[in-house]
Amino acid sequence: MSTTLDITASDDLGVPAARRRSAELERSVRERPGRFRALTGDRPTGRLHLGHYFGSLHNRVRLQNLGVDVMVLVADYQVLTDRDVADRLAEHVEDLVLDYLAVGIDPARATIFTHSAIPALNQLLLPFLSLVSVAELGRNPTVKDEIAHSRQSAVSGLMFTYPVHQAADILFCKAGLVPVGQDQLPHLEVARTVARRFNNRYGTPDGPVFPEPEALLSDAPLLLGTDGGKMSKSRGNAIALAAGADETARLIRGAKTDGDRHIAYDPVARPEVSSLVLLAALCLGRDPHEVAGEIGGRGAAALKAVVTDAVNDYFAPIRARRAELARDRAHIRGVLRDGNERAAAIAEATLVEVRAAMKALYY
Ligand code: TRP
Repeated sequence: MSTTLDITASDDLGVPAARRRSAELERSVRERPGRFRALTGDRPTGRLHLGHYFGSLHNRVRLQNLGVDVMVLVADYQVLTDRDVADRLAEHVEDLVLDYLAVGIDPARATIFTHSAIPALNQLLLPFLSLVSVAELGRNPTVKDEIAHSRQSAVSGLMFTYPVHQAADILFCKAGLVPVGQDQLPHLEVARTVARRFNNRYGTPDGPVFPEPEALLSDAPLLLGTDGGKMSKSRGNAIALAAGADETARLIRGAKTDGDRHIAYDPVARPEVSSLVLLAALCLGRDPHEVAGEIGGRGAAALKAVVTDAVNDYFAPIRARRAELARDRAHIRGVLRDGNERAAAIAEATLVEVRAAMKALYY
């Protein structure tokens, strides 16, 4: 059969359309949160930072507290896309779990799990790969960008295929909602395409096996790193959630600003200063224009003092909780064990459905 839909030409990739759809979804979620399952994840490559917090973690906790069934994936197999060896993996996994718990993801309501512990999820990759062409894999703009920035000498097969593995991350638990940033939209499109093609090819009289997942785009504005670039674990320009108060002060003191003493919130003309203003405003729960207005002509040093206090006050309880949790390794392991068990049961049930649909259940 010929299902060679061009993933990148699909309308749904348009960011404005995705934004409109997200706003609609947001309304449905607020009306009936119990109907939704959301799945998101992070690669365990280091501690999460303030950009992750305001861009994503905060939203996961909000969805969880509304009553959405939230699944949080520690995407350990995805670490190997742009490097040969996943360094200090156990430590990074533990760091992620600590970050999740510290910000309020509650393992009694949400499921925290890892790729490597869920064989049935990983097995879905094989039938899913058969639904996508090599040409489509090569056209994925996020993968292209990652290849361009990769320091590896050779591009691995996993780099090309991980978006299909990510489709398995989403579809194994039939998540309808995927809260992500814009860079993940091409991957979501792969997941939707895989779901659609699987249903077309193997659909049963009982209806489709997979729902088509939808992106829930975060409307949080982007925080810049201390060098004015995108805040990123790998660029050394991030303020970690777990950073201490002194480290935070030092990092903010060293943050890039500009030559204009008058502090204003103008993200287009003055991105570095505005990002600092925004960070303070997010922590204070205030309007960034107001925050900037109060600092006015007192300059960058005054702005940095305001930002440092705001960040340290806001994150003090989160950091304290994290430090306390870090003392109880057995608890962290228990959270993962329970989450993995729950995710594995869901994955096994889906795999049985998939094999039945494919007529690959022989006994
Ligand atoms: N690709 C995501 C990132 O780099 C992590 C991820 C893995 C993910 N699997 C996922 C995100 C499934 C959303 C849904 O941040």
